[in-house]
Amino acid sequence: MFDIDAIRNDFPILRQKIYNKPLIYFDNAATTQKPQCVIDKLVEVYTTYNANIHRGVHYLSNKATDETEKARKVVQLFLHAPYSHEIIFTRGATEAINLVAQSFGEKFIHRGDEIIVSEMEHHSNLVPWQLVAERQGARIVKWPFNQNGELEISVLKPLITEKTRLIAVNHVSNSLGTINPVKEIIDLAHQHEVAVLVDGAQAVQHIKVDVQQLGCDFYVFSGHKIYGPTGIGVVYGKEKWLNGMPPYQGGGEMIENVSFEKTTFNQLPFKFEAGTPNYADTIAMAEAIKYVSAIGLENIAAYEKELLNYAEEKLRSLPGIEFYGTAHEKTSVISFNLHGAHPFDVGTLLDKMGIAVRTGTHCTEPVMQHFGIPGTVRASFAFYNTKKEVDGLYLGLQKVVQMLA
Ligand code: ALA
Repeated sequence: MFDIDAIRNDFPILRQKIYNKPLIYFDNAATTQKPQCVIDKLVEVYTTYNANIHRGVHYLSNKATDETEKARKVVQLFLHAPYSHEIIFTRGATEAINLVAQSFGEKFIHRGDEIIVSEMEHHSNLVPWQLVAERQGARIVKWPFNQNGELEISVLKPLITEKTRLIAVNHVSNSLGTINPVKEIIDLAHQHEVAVLVDGAQAVQHIKVDVQQLGCDFYVFSGHKIYGPTGIGVVYGKEKWLNGMPPYQGGGEMIENVSFEKTTFNQLPFKFEAGTPNYADTIAMAEAIKYVSAIGLENIAAYEKELLNYAEEKLRSLPGIEFYGTAHEKTSVISFNLHGAHPFDVGTLLDKMGIAVRTGTHCTEPVMQHFGIPGTVRASFAFYNTKKEVDGLYLGLQKVVQMLA
């Protein structure tokens, strides 16, 4: 499908050895590695046109401003959003959800209202809603998942009442890999005039997203999970909501006029971008999006699916292995435990073999509570991983089984 050697060559970090063993990086759901073009873009910004944006009349400031606004267009096209002013830059998906929760919540969620949150949300898409519910006197309604780690529409239907104001759901679960039926969820919610926030932090790097086709009210993601820098993320919000919502933070650039008597606010998107924006990472994130788009998300998804199938097949033969999250539609995430072994022990032993996996609750404690387990070992694959590396994981786990026997 694509030249895997050339792809791997784009990622300098993959060339190194850990404990004198070739690095096998299977913690891509936590953060992805960066291609050279993204690293180069950051160096280019800081070495040739670093200046504060939207504030200067000088060349460097104008150049940095232009590049930032070009990046906004790149994100708009990537999500197929109708307008670039519907794209707000934040510190990450977490801040993006907090922005929506606080601002939308203050205006549109009131005493006695209900917010439906799926049981498989990252804490980032649960805790902000709990804070808003507490403040506004609203209630969180849990939408449970089934034993395969799938959200069922038939379970959601009776949860929607005339009090429901918003449904918060991820497009893809970080701990289970489930791809959720977000289009169906949004269509159902809109029949009841309920807004939907989709957490796309684990989706945009695997699935082509079209916010107009989905019809979602809000869609958020992080730069660092799509091969871009840390500290940058995105809220897509429908103009009608964003215009009706109060500012999230006060400070520079989000104002129109300020006096001690009264402050008026800037237009979209700047109303939601207080302070000096993270323009360098914004520009580098756009580079990452261009890089991924040039490879093609369809190609990436097909390759990762092949890796997932190969890995599941291989790992299934290990004695005492139990998988969590066996949804029909999945991205390249395998969450598992080895019978009698604590996930931390498994992860620590794998680390000594140069294999990076995540262990623990993956910021989804309710998912672990559902299964009655302390956590899992999670291997998450990216398009730069190989079947040979999966073989490495398999051999590593065989050793772990023997060591812990
Ligand atoms: N949310 C990240 C993960 O799933 C950190 O590991």
